[in-house]
Amino acid sequence: MDAKRLTSALLKWFAANARDLPWRRTRDPYAIWVSEIMLQQTQVKTVIPYWERWLRELPDLAALATAAPDKIHKLWEGLGYYTRVRNMQLAAQVILENHGSRFPEQFDDLLALPGIGRYTAGAIASIAFDQPAPILDGNVIRVLTRLHGIAANPREKKTNARLWTLAGELVHTTTACSHLNQSLMELGALICTPRQPRCLVCPVRAACVAHREGTTGTLPNLGPRATSTARRFMAFVVTRRGRFLVRQRPAGAVNAHLWEFPNVETGSVEQRHARSDAPYQAGDFTSTEPLCSIKHSITRYRIQLDAFRAKLKKVPPDKSARWCSLAELEQLAFTSAHRKILKHLGRLGPNLPRP
Ligand code: ADE
Repeated sequence: MDAKRLTSALLKWFAANARDLPWRRTRDPYAIWVSEIMLQQTQVKTVIPYWERWLRELPDLAALATAAPDKIHKLWEGLGYYTRVRNMQLAAQVILENHGSRFPEQFDDLLALPGIGRYTAGAIASIAFDQPAPILDGNVIRVLTRLHGIAANPREKKTNARLWTLAGELVHTTTACSHLNQSLMELGALICTPRQPRCLVCPVRAACVAHREGTTGTLPNLGPRATSTARRFMAFVVTRRGRFLVRQRPAGAVNAHLWEFPNVETGSVEQRHARSDAPYQAGDFTSTEPLCSIKHSITRYRIQLDAFRAKLKKVPPDKSARWCSLAELEQLAFTSAHRKILKHLGRLGPNLPRP
């Protein structure tokens, strides 16, 4: 099957099978950009309510450019990779300053914006403006490596370049660039899934090398999985006249700008040395009573967070600290692990043990 016939099979399938997703009901580049950034590393069903709330609260570039940092972090709370949200605000400010408040349409102008790489620039140019810019994400990589029987690791430079070329050839065969690119992602999400792909109902199975050769189970060849490291923390729930001590993580740190309970990393000596400049030490806390134990896994780390009710011997100088009521805590953007402690406190209500 040549590229033109592949494209027409994909477009026909997409017209009949595309999910009705909220960002598919708009051509507003701002709304499409927000969806594409949220969808990086995050599943569609998780993103939908975040996207809807974001567009209600920050409906356009000007609203985002001028929003308080607390507000954009709260709207992103739970999505992770918070650099994304800060870059979005920077990009909105650049568009207002340098592009006369109009969302740029040219691929190179999009690529120059903070937080916009080759994938996102291609997604906006094609989905919002129907330009023949290719996209290559995890779903598209899976579709193309199987379709073409590419056994090399798609993360290798040469193979990655070949995949971009193949994606580019496809999108150049049509003027329906938005639908063509989305059909590749949609096929990867619905049919050409990582495990047990539904080849019987695939619109392009006749052209698929992996289907013919029975290699869908081994493609894409992503190499060995990165291993994750176990890390362990203790967090301390300290109160004063019904208010809880919390702190905001500093700029430059992981989860910068998000809130957490005071905590220390336990575990290896190296890890503790690395954090010896942290404002709190385990020895600062007394009368510790176990509250809950939380497990939280992200790409690189498996985190165990043991929370204790505690007293603080004396409050160390910590400019980022604040005493807040439970209702005030609800308004802050917490890291995901510490948000689970907060949920536990909400369930305990007046039954919070004394330290
Ligand atoms: N993943 C990335 N972009 C997407 C889109 N526009 N629709 C569905 N899934 C996606």
